[in-house]
Amino acid sequence: MHADIVVLPGDGIGPEVTAAAVDVLQAVATRYGHRFSLHTHLIGGSAIDATGKPLPDDTLAAARDADAVLLGAVGGPKWSDPNATVRPEQGLLAIRKALGLYANLRPVRPHAAAIGASPIKSHLLAGVDLLVVRELTGGIYFGDKTRDADGASDLCRYSIAEIERVVRRACLLARGRRGHVTSVDKANVLETSRLWRDVASRIQREEFPDVTLEHQLVDSMAMHLLSKPRAYDVIVTENMFGDILTDEASMLAGSLGLLPSASLGEGSVGMYEPIHGSAPDIAGQGIANPYGTILSAALLLRYSLGLSQEAACIEAAVDSALDAGVFTADLASEGSAVSTREATAAVLARIESCETEVL
Ligand code: NAD
Ligand code: IPM
Ligand code: MN
Repeated sequence: MHADIVVLPGDGIGPEVTAAAVDVLQAVATRYGHRFSLHTHLIGGSAIDATGKPLPDDTLAAARDADAVLLGAVGGPKWSDPNATVRPEQGLLAIRKALGLYANLRPVRPHAAAIGASPIKSHLLAGVDLLVVRELTGGIYFGDKTRDADGASDLCRYSIAEIERVVRRACLLARGRRGHVTSVDKANVLETSRLWRDVASRIQREEFPDVTLEHQLVDSMAMHLLSKPRAYDVIVTENMFGDILTDEASMLAGSLGLLPSASLGEGSVGMYEPIHGSAPDIAGQGIANPYGTILSAALLLRYSLGLSQEAACIEAAVDSALDAGVFTADLASEGSAVSTREATAAVLARIESCETEVL
């Protein structure tokens, strides 16, 4: 097949990890006889520097026309002045909103070979397989923001329709898994959370009687996620709770650099990005973990292009590289770390031996 893929490297380690994923996509194209046309555009701080805007018009136009979008990360100290009015992160929020990408899927599956890198006791990690569905285009991120002489405010609002569609998506995904959804909120304090809980219960009752739903307050969820991670299947939650809980959940896998994500809407173009940021502390050194972005490319193939065998090929290649102990510095023990390029080369070599038969 032929597909147009827009690549948005962004800032910091973004260009390093997207370069890795692009190499992997091209290797898959060669192996399976596809043609992926890659179109690179600016977003974030690099876009501000070049155009004054964190999401230039041509970037958004190209994304809208594409079959899928692959993004690295945006942001960094250069653009982090708290008084700045134009910020890299605005570009990311704007593209998510403009493309209607309300469901951000963040799978967390600790890999046996990397479990030693996790600060969590290994007996708690065996068999952990959870999927966080983070609401991505509403809540406090998108409410009115004001600052005056005495203070500042961020409005948090959710409409019923916004909650319905993301809960429905989570329940549908649970059907294809172990059939259990944990909805996370702060209903003991927040009105938006009480609405969230109410709507989630109704959607499950009316549309998904075959799926079990439990509600969990976000503070205790932060604790349970580490003390009994195997208890969870699909976790659905609002934008900011999902942001925070997934960085926490990355520690189950051993590194923030391992987790991929898929941002999906209703029939619109999907966007795929690792959950980590631009990692200014290691940017430019060629040592970033590329696996989260490479695994995001696998999700792109599966969800946007329907290429499930090719996606599985990438996932198996990353698994095998991890099995072989090909670890970047975030995972490796002292002295044994490989570079971003070496980790990518290990994946590329394994893609050569993927099965290509029609299943
Ligand atoms: P971060 O995710 O960039 O980094 C947190 C820590 O994890 C750092 O120590 C970093 O070195 C490490 N890390 C992250 N990704 C890694 C990888 N692939 N390999 C190895 N180590 C990795 O979070 P931060 O430092 O809080 O934020 C830095 C900037 O990134 C901020 O400007 C923030 O807004 C931005 N950010 C962007 C995105 C995104 O574009 N999707 C996501 C999160 C943060
Ligand atoms: C993420 C990031 C973004 C978010 C920031 C950079 C706007 O942390 O993708 O997880 O909070 O959504
Ligand atoms: Mn985040």
